[in-house]
Amino acid sequence: MSDWSLEYQGFDPKQEPLREALCTLGNGYFATRGAAAESRAGDVHYPGTYIAGCYNRLKSKIPGHVVEKESLVNAPNWLPLEFRTADEPWFDPQAFELLEYRQELNLRQGVLTRLVRFRDARGRHTRVVQRRFVSMADPHIAALETTFVAENWSGRLIVRSALDGRVENTNVKRYLPLDNNHLAPVEEAAADDYSIYLQVETSHSHIRIAEAARTRLFINGEPRDVERRLIREPGYIAQEFSIDLAPDAPVTVEKVAAVFNSKDHAVSEPGLEACQRVERADAFDQLLEQHVLAWDHLWRRCRLDMQDNERSALVLNLHVFHLLQTTSENTVGLDVSVPARGLHGEGYRGHIFWDEIFICPFLNFRFPEITRSILLYRYRRLPEAQWAAKHAGYEGAMFPWQSGSNGREETDDLRINPLSGHWIRDHSYVQRHIGIALVFNVWHYYQVTGDIEFLSSYGAELILEIARFWSSIATYNRSLDRYEICGVMGPDEFHDAYPGKDEHGLDNNSYTNVMASWVLCRAMDILEIIPEWQSEALRDRLGLKRSELDRWDDVSRKLRVVINDDGIISQFEGYDQLEEFDWHAYRRKYGNIQRLDRILEAEGDTPNRYKASKQADVLMLFYLLSADELREVFARLNYPFEYETIPRNVEYYLARTSHGSTLSRVVHSWVLSRSQRGRSWELFKEALESDISDIQGGTTQEGIHLGAMAGTVDILQRCYTGIDARGDRLWINPCLPVDLKQLSFDIRYRGHWLTIQVDQESLKISSRPGTSSAINMGFRNEEFELAPGEGKDFKL
Ligand code: BGC
Repeated sequence: MSDWSLEYQGFDPKQEPLREALCTLGNGYFATRGAAAESRAGDVHYPGTYIAGCYNRLKSKIPGHVVEKESLVNAPNWLPLEFRTADEPWFDPQAFELLEYRQELNLRQGVLTRLVRFRDARGRHTRVVQRRFVSMADPHIAALETTFVAENWSGRLIVRSALDGRVENTNVKRYLPLDNNHLAPVEEAAADDYSIYLQVETSHSHIRIAEAARTRLFINGEPRDVERRLIREPGYIAQEFSIDLAPDAPVTVEKVAAVFNSKDHAVSEPGLEACQRVERADAFDQLLEQHVLAWDHLWRRCRLDMQDNERSALVLNLHVFHLLQTTSENTVGLDVSVPARGLHGEGYRGHIFWDEIFICPFLNFRFPEITRSILLYRYRRLPEAQWAAKHAGYEGAMFPWQSGSNGREETDDLRINPLSGHWIRDHSYVQRHIGIALVFNVWHYYQVTGDIEFLSSYGAELILEIARFWSSIATYNRSLDRYEICGVMGPDEFHDAYPGKDEHGLDNNSYTNVMASWVLCRAMDILEIIPEWQSEALRDRLGLKRSELDRWDDVSRKLRVVINDDGIISQFEGYDQLEEFDWHAYRRKYGNIQRLDRILEAEGDTPNRYKASKQADVLMLFYLLSADELREVFARLNYPFEYETIPRNVEYYLARTSHGSTLSRVVHSWVLSRSQRGRSWELFKEALESDISDIQGGTTQEGIHLGAMAGTVDILQRCYTGIDARGDRLWINPCLPVDLKQLSFDIRYRGHWLTIQVDQESLKISSRPGTSSAINMGFRNEEFELAPGEGKDFKL
């Protein structure tokens, strides 16, 4: 194990689903799980391939209901490469005696290598080495190279190279009772002597997916022609051939695949493009070289060195690796965003939640063009959000909690509790705070980049329409002289209603109300920031009148926040009336109680009765806003805010959280970073283990947790360094945990490439030479300018 290599020794069927998710290879256009090339979907393996933005809807019947779900489609499997020695069954690691089995994911190069040595029933030893990648250099290309060596025998080896479109979406067991068959076969044919081709179509969205695969044989590096038998059935095509192996003489089979779909840019017909691309493709080694070079450049932009142990360095690299495999420069310009579970599995059906609030802040300082692209995905769905607001009786734009193809609300009506087997109504769609996340991301993207063109053309409209929604959902309570927001949910998904009440939603969720005030302020700011002619045009187009802006101002000052006498900001109105939860007893009884909601439901109870949260809710305020910003919002709202407010609330809510979401530890680590550095570091370390150790006990196999992955890296990048882009100035105020001796990385800020080096005693900032004008910076209370080529040192 090194910082750059995720290694697995031996074959363990129980570990395989997790390994497959963690060894997924992708390039931001598509990704393929790290399943063995010969494997088929079943209890052990799941060779899924997902193309960004390829969604399809299916209706299914469950007792008493018809449910319609949209899912990111499992695309045809381009991997299959099966082999067998003569007179023996096809190789299967579970059915053969394994002499050696090793797998290594090289993160620096994006290459997955597998070594297998096995003995067949006749005592023949065969060695198989496979290397594969999904090209970062050409988003449509993937390749698999397999080298066979007969160690103690000579004779025939039969190989079958296929494209398999008979796949379904069966990665998530909970979803199996519903229809999962998204693809209909269209065509399968031989493209030329070396290549096969397959096309399928999604049943509802009618997206055509085409794949072609060129399979070539090399003996001692020389191409060799073999006779191939074509096997064809609807949705499946394969070439089968046999090779004569001589002892210790390596034979290599190279499979280069191309993946296209009918939504791609610059295509005529996806089948044609796929066939042409494999026909024109270079050999494996050249393709690999281009791919490795592309990764090399990505890593240069993502450098983050920390002096801790090798494991932390490896996990951080793994997190950046999977983030860039889900969304990369290949994604820029596509009409897609970041599915919560990456392109790595079918958890949450590939839907897009608020998780980008944990992802974009990291990207802003490295790949702002990706954030821009993610924000444009939302901008294009503004009409749908406007319709949703109108339909619900509001104004402005109400974005969906779960989003997919067209921005319709995709949250399930019903979901199954795997513990009880019950179908339960899912009210999580009332998490209207999703709009806050979008405004936060537009605002921060602008703060870091100064991209006024984006702000004027797209960002401002998003912010204004979301502000409008908050103003319209807020109702005035005359007796309190306050505005209230009722019937919503905060980020904590354990609370969706008041105990014993039929209607769902809660009143005056503090996170929502405080952030709604913040959103309204940013909306008013924006009209001053963008050029006057654009501001005027936008106001006219949106019909934004002075009276409406006056209301925004009023609402932003008078939103209600329930603060208890002891200074605890109430998660929502009435939270203090809930019962304390017996954490101790439940931990003793169940061990892992992260998903307390499922445990309680199975017991006929509900978390709605208790002061028990799945994840940070009130504390999200301290995660998103600096102490200065919080002070400003609370002052505007005319509520007290002292320094002690933060540690007191952190202490209170941390003791009442089950960390049922992997996002939870990220937020708690962040909010403790100044007051309890040791505890923050512990939670950061735990958050690092979220996926690599699958701490939720089985969810990573359904896809990685992208928000936690990006969020952990961002803790190092922004939290422990106190980096904050605010008001045309980049602030920095490091405070490293005692165990973190040194941190060094590069970020982009307004045309500068900055190198930041921090240890316990000092901070060094330098800007690479360049032509951009000087930037404004601030260290604690000291303001200064930094021009390209300059540096500054500070004692801490
Ligand atoms: C969390 C949400 C999150 C979603 C997708 C849920 O478990 O509670 O906050 O958006 O997962 O990651």
